[in-house]
Amino acid sequence: MENPKPDDIEVRQVCAGESEELMVFLLAHYYPEEPLTAGTSPPEPEAADKEFLLSNVPFGTCFMALQGGRIVAAVVAGPKDSHEPEHMAEEARRHAGGKWGRILHLLSAVESATDVCRRFGVPSSLHVHALGVDPVVRGRSLGARLMTAVAQRARELGHPLVSVDCTSVYSARLVQRLGYQLVNTLRYVDHLDASGQQVIRPPPPHESVQTFVLHL
Ligand SMILES: CC(C)(COP(=O)(O)OP(=O)(O)OC[C@H]1O[C@@H](n2cnc3c(N)ncnc32)[C@H](O)[C@@H]1OP(=O)(O)O)[C@@H](O)C(=O)NCCC(=O)NCCS
Repeated sequence: MENPKPDDIEVRQVCAGESEELMVFLLAHYYPEEPLTAGTSPPEPEAADKEFLLSNVPFGTCFMALQGGRIVAAVVAGPKDSHEPEHMAEEARRHAGGKWGRILHLLSAVESATDVCRRFGVPSSLHVHALGVDPVVRGRSLGARLMTAVAQRARELGHPLVSVDCTSVYSARLVQRLGYQLVNTLRYVDHLDASGQQVIRPPPPHESVQTFVLHL
């Protein structure tokens, strides 16, 4: 059958108590390929990175796709407000020196440049922090289904925006197809530390982090 519909795959909210299964999935199919994680050493994410992602589960804004009871895709999102640029700068300082610190160095620069709540004059945004699909089911629009679930939840919660920093060319293409607006592009070769060294060196074809928003 050409282009099979993923009808056998259920998308639902990640419940409190499912954090462990979510992390097992993210460690297998998100972190190893995610360009910021892949572009800094060592390969494994730091504990603070994993704790940060899981801290979003209680908001009820994380979703997963299940096939026969097995997680095959997941999205992690959480609310942010107009204080986010200052908050990110503080977090980057707090974790400076390690892998998570380097990732936050770049994400903080992106946050300062985009500042989506102030830019669009809104009190909050539901921000997507991680999106991963098991390679076996890629190309079946599961990423799009999860992003749609996030947007629906954002509407329910009264957030006027969904925002995402796409670190991968694949996620950037995906959200463009969903009608997201491009806000900012930061090329990895242009993001340097105090000594002039490139902070993150993702493998090709990833060249930039692109920030997008969806107005609800
Ligand atoms: C981003 C991601 C979730 C997209 O997966 P998806 O929802 O299945 O992607 P799409 O349905 O939009 O795929 C469109 C096409 O790109 C291909 N594709 C998607 N991700 C790909 C990848 N990482 N490598 C190679 N090809 C990929 C698909 O196979 C499909 O090809 P086709 O048109 O020939 O069938 C997935 O690439 C992923 O899990 N990446 C690893 C983690 C990551 O980098 N996340 C994004 C950080 S912001």
